[in-house]
Amino acid sequence: MSTVLKLENIKYGYEDGGFRRDILKDLSYEFEEGKFYTILGPSGSGKTTLLSIMAGLDKQDSGKIYYKGKSLDEIGLYKYRRNNMGIVFQSYNLISYLTGIENVLVAMTETDNKLPKNHKELGYALLEMVGIVQSKADRTINKLSGGEQQRVAIARSMASNVDLIFADEPTGNLDTETANEIVKIFQMLTEKYGKTIIVVTHSDEVSKLSDSRLFLKDGKLIDIE
Ligand SMILES: Nc1ncnc2c1ncn2[C@@H]1O[C@H](COP(=O)(O)OP(=O)(O)O)[C@@H](O)[C@H]1O
Ligand SMILES: [Mg+2]
Repeated sequence: MSTVLKLENIKYGYEDGGFRRDILKDLSYEFEEGKFYTILGPSGSGKTTLLSIMAGLDKQDSGKIYYKGKSLDEIGLYKYRRNNMGIVFQSYNLISYLTGIENVLVAMTETDNKLPKNHKELGYALLEMVGIVQSKADRTINKLSGGEQQRVAIARSMASNVDLIFADEPTGNLDTETANEIVKIFQMLTEKYGKTIIVVTHSDEVSKLSDSRLFLKDGKLIDIE
């Protein structure tokens, strides 16, 4: 198995009323290609902070991150975000007055990666992969259920042909049954398409369905079991 993302001695903290509070403390971890990871941890433990840093949305105070052996400094955070990873949020963050397919097509313009010529066909195919048929893909976002919106958001996260996907509490707004369906999509994307998926969650049920369960404790990632 090859390493897709390597975290090396990551430190992150902030000043709070004259005190320094460290959230990530010398955190190191290697994520392997084609696996579905979950990161558990209590509220306020730094899960969102860690995800933001891994996704290139925020920068660690010290330490290094490597994507397929190349440091993010060398790649550049902007290019890394544009070409190497996709992200899914708890509240979907779709453009509500556009349709599902339009949301995916917009994302396809935000990359330097080479995509097959027929973007629309590819968009519908991505949506179908996550269970959104064409008639639903053509609806505006505000006419879709929460579970359907999250499916569209997952399709969008893959629009620029990336193989690394992050998700922050992607099932946090969904009922148990719908949450399970979303998790099954993550399992399918790793098993069938070799994607690497890193999901932050506080749900033990979601975590139990992943290949590798991690826990963020005292600013470090530890393997559960
Ligand atoms: N730049 C910052 N300034 C102040 N507080 C911050 C900053 N970044 C993170 N925090 C705090 O750090 C803690 C960890 O936050 P977060 O990563 O959102 O945790 P989680 O996602 O595990 O709930 C929280 O207490 C949050 O309020
Ligand atoms: Mg959070």
